[in-house]
Amino acid sequence: MAVIKANAYGHGAVETARTLLRHGVSHVAVVSIEEGVILRHAGITGPIVVLGPLFHEQVRDLLAHQLTPVVSDIALLPVLAEAASSFPVPYPIHLKVETGMGRLGLSQEELAALFGSRRFPTTLQLEGLMTHLADTDGPSPDMTQEQLARFRDAIDTVTASGFRVPLIHAANSGGAIRFPEACFSLVRPGIMLYGYHTLPNSVAVPDLKPVLSLRTTVAQVRTILPGHKVSYNGTFTARRKTTLAVLPVGYADGVNRRLSNRGFVLIRGHRAPIVGLVCMDMIMVDVTHIPGITVGDEAALIGRQGNEQITAHDVAQWAETIPYEVLCSIGPRIPRQYLAA
Ligand SMILES: Cc1ncc(COP(=O)(O)O)c(C=O)c1O
Repeated sequence: MAVIKANAYGHGAVETARTLLRHGVSHVAVVSIEEGVILRHAGITGPIVVLGPLFHEQVRDLLAHQLTPVVSDIALLPVLAEAASSFPVPYPIHLKVETGMGRLGLSQEELAALFGSRRFPTTLQLEGLMTHLADTDGPSPDMTQEQLARFRDAIDTVTASGFRVPLIHAANSGGAIRFPEACFSLVRPGIMLYGYHTLPNSVAVPDLKPVLSLRTTVAQVRTILPGHKVSYNGTFTARRKTTLAVLPVGYADGVNRRLSNRGFVLIRGHRAPIVGLVCMDMIMVDVTHIPGITVGDEAALIGRQGNEQITAHDVAQWAETIPYEVLCSIGPRIPRQYLAA
């Protein structure tokens, strides 16, 4: 089950879903009905699982678009059961169990009450049972192992009451790489599909290749004299005669403002530091050391040029965040272009 929420971690959900389904992924997962409807409107017919919370008033829309809900709130079951009663076959749902993330899911007690009473609605099909692991990329395996033990208890509760659940799933990317016992019948990776991970160095990680590059074009080149300042609030002062390139991309496009006076881009195969505050739509970079820069040159904020590479991981370190946030933040104004593999 490929996790393609948040516009496929910034990569574009529709194209990513199409590609992954063509390559044999059985399910795609989004977080909201809205994300699922975008895929349906784009003509995607494969199974779409909605991971995020579901509200009573959304049930009609969910069923109308044949989206598979993850139910984390027991009060929703009768509403779903009633809405599904007009369907010729039981409607597939997944149940989520809370095992230690402290987020969404049924408690073990709720699960025991539901299956102990054998009152699982007949208009629904229990297609999946899942949990979410909180610490698969942490230094110690302990928390994950505790969660898995609780999840196995939950599976026992359900199977002991006679249910056979076709899809049992717990593992995100870290879980799938590091905990074979977490893989059950399905894995639910997100970040590793896009070529990244946040696992500790002690873990052997498959050879992941970043999928995305983020490129723009030099819009203006200017030379400033020592003492001149750059961008809002004048946080950068030139100490020498400095050549600047102005790039038409800013925090509205996902360039984190923390990269102000800290981040780099690549131009003509060289690293150019971001100088001054990141603006909403523009950044300025120091290209004094790079000969021959002209308007129209390509600048890579993420990607490779010659022997140099900047990854979302590098950007995340400069911005004190994680590659997930760097990728998800790439805004809607950035046109996505897809290259055939
Ligand atoms: C419920 C759920 N499953 C799976 C994933 C995928 O996680 P990752 O991107 O770490 O593989 C996420 C992402 O946060 C998630 O919320």
